[in-house]
Amino acid sequence: MNTIDVPKEWHQTAEKLKHGTNVGIIIGKIDSGKSVLCKYLARAWTASRIRVGYVDSDLGQSTIGFPTTVSLKIFDAPPQCRNDSNPSHFQFVGNTAPEGFLLQTLHAVKMMTDKSRQQGAEITLIDTSGFIDGPVARILKLHKIEMLRPQWILALQAKDEIEHLLKGYEKMGWQIIRLACSKHVVTRSQAERQRYRNEKYKAYFKQARITDCSVHKVVFPSCVLGTGERIDPSALPKEICMHGMNRPYLEKCGNELLIIADDVGASIPVSQLKESFDVGLVVLIEKPGLKDLLVGLNDEYNNTLGLATVIDLDPFAGKLTLFTPVQDIHKVATIRLGTVKVERDGGEYGRARVIQYW
Ligand SMILES: Nc1ncnc2c1ncn2[C@@H]1O[C@H](COP(=O)(O)OP(=O)(O)OP(=O)(O)O)[C@@H](O)[C@H]1O
Ligand SMILES: [Mg+2]
Repeated sequence: MNTIDVPKEWHQTAEKLKHGTNVGIIIGKIDSGKSVLCKYLARAWTASRIRVGYVDSDLGQSTIGFPTTVSLKIFDAPPQCRNDSNPSHFQFVGNTAPEGFLLQTLHAVKMMTDKSRQQGAEITLIDTSGFIDGPVARILKLHKIEMLRPQWILALQAKDEIEHLLKGYEKMGWQIIRLACSKHVVTRSQAERQRYRNEKYKAYFKQARITDCSVHKVVFPSCVLGTGERIDPSALPKEICMHGMNRPYLEKCGNELLIIADDVGASIPVSQLKESFDVGLVVLIEKPGLKDLLVGLNDEYNNTLGLATVIDLDPFAGKLTLFTPVQDIHKVATIRLGTVKVERDGGEYGRARVIQYW
């Protein structure tokens, strides 16, 4: 922190914004110096005895928390090291980018911002990802701003790359403070970003162990597992043939029929199943897709207790085996499925959409 370039307008901005109870958001493209600016502000304000809440909403390159999460850390003293990890709270979203998880991203940022205020932060700073281009980014950022209602938006630009966002915000009456990116900004390659994430997973799962969880005691918001009526596969009408499926697990709840297959690539007679079970939706989970999937373990108030990866699911025994550092597994009320696959030594090795809907 001591070696960073602090342009004169950063000092002036820190002084100008330090009064009152505020929420502020920092936006800029990837590698524009957002996180360095956030840490500078946290340092400047805590030095003036202001309690600062740092909400890290960058799902891929989290400074405070872990990949796939939005996190919060309260600072009463200046941040010390480059990556001041160890968040006070975090909320699982499910992916290292908001695509496919827009609702979860917004909800998580709102939860962490509310928590920051509850914990007495006088200023809550929201660090964001560099997701700025295109209509989806524009819609997400606008909803974030409308939901959080920040007193100011700090915009870091090298030239005019986020004017397509800022012009609209200005029309809507939000206070924008434009700052130039530092000439000392260092860009990072995709490989460096991946390595950074892997180190974060590795550190997080260092104390993890294998533990079982009863699927009957938890809810999976993305499917009906454990909430419906189990169907014995031998009770399937003879004309329904599930090619390539050894012993499928079937469960019906409301308008949905859930099928859990041991293997991938089975053919599902969707229309026949819908007609036979009088459902509108057939949902398929192929077990190999679940292996090493990163999931969020949330308590009854929807606070994330921690992350886990899936080792195995035995739906017949109602048992989900997880690898997680979370101790209070009995407090888990919901399990949120993500899309990232992480090996036990912390290596991220792919993405999977494990639930198919017809
Ligand atoms: N003001 C500055 N003075 C010195 N170095 C800086 C400054 N701003 C940024 N850097 C350098 O650039 C790197 C990237 O900055 P930073 O991590 O803040 O960018 P970012 O916009 O948060 O990136 P991302 O989009 O990946 O979150 C930093 O690690 C640091 O080395
Ligand atoms: Mg950053």
